[in-house]
Amino acid sequence: MFSQYQPVPQLQPVPDLLRVTVIVGSVRTGRLAPDVAGWFAEQTARRDDLVTDVVDLAAIALPDDLDPDDPEVARLRPRIAEADAYVVIVPEYNRSIPGPLKTLIDTYQPEWLAKPVGFVGYGLGMAGGVRAVEHLRQIFAEFHSVGMKDTVTFPRILEHYDEAGRFPVEPAGAEAAAKLMLDQLTWWARALRDAKARRPYGS
Ligand SMILES: Cc1cc2nc3c(=O)[nH]c(=O)nc-3n(C[C@H](O)[C@H](O)[C@H](O)COP(=O)(O)O)c2cc1C
Repeated sequence: MFSQYQPVPQLQPVPDLLRVTVIVGSVRTGRLAPDVAGWFAEQTARRDDLVTDVVDLAAIALPDDLDPDDPEVARLRPRIAEADAYVVIVPEYNRSIPGPLKTLIDTYQPEWLAKPVGFVGYGLGMAGGVRAVEHLRQIFAEFHSVGMKDTVTFPRILEHYDEAGRFPVEPAGAEAAAKLMLDQLTWWARALRDAKARRPYGS
């Protein structure tokens, strides 16, 4: 199901293109995340200003002990570190984010530093997705991240499917929201990348 957006193992440096790492934050059996991630991959494919790498947490066996020397942690490190920006695809679990996503964030530290982050949230309830996104903003503040003001959310996500299982059934609003968020994200990614090239952050 995920084959059309397999992660790129090692991104080539491409000065004019921004490297956006998309993090898929659900590992649950029967998850809806591939539908949201697949739709979002279509949105990024329309753009000529960025390349994406998809980090799907369900395909990665991160240890719970946050061991920085664990081989899986080391393997993933360049894909986190080399990103100019992130987009987190996050379902709402008990008004917050899934545990494995928090473990991923806690496993790395300087790799996240001073980068823009965009959010795509979803959930079963009326506010589904929004509360997870707002928690992510607080968490990423620890890394001096810039959280994009405008987000993409799919509250009551089951209403975004048609009878044939197509998602999202009325894409215009979500497409506009994704464009707005990605426009903000790429502006910040370019601005911060240029600034850090002139002077390392915090120096
Ligand atoms: C443990 C758990 C807690 C949940 N809590 C909420 C919640 O607080 N608000 C909400 O709108 N949906 C909640 N849901 C519903 C999920 O957001 C919904 O099932 C969504 O599809 C989960 O994403 P996934 O299918 O990709 O794992 C919860 C689901 C689970 C499994």
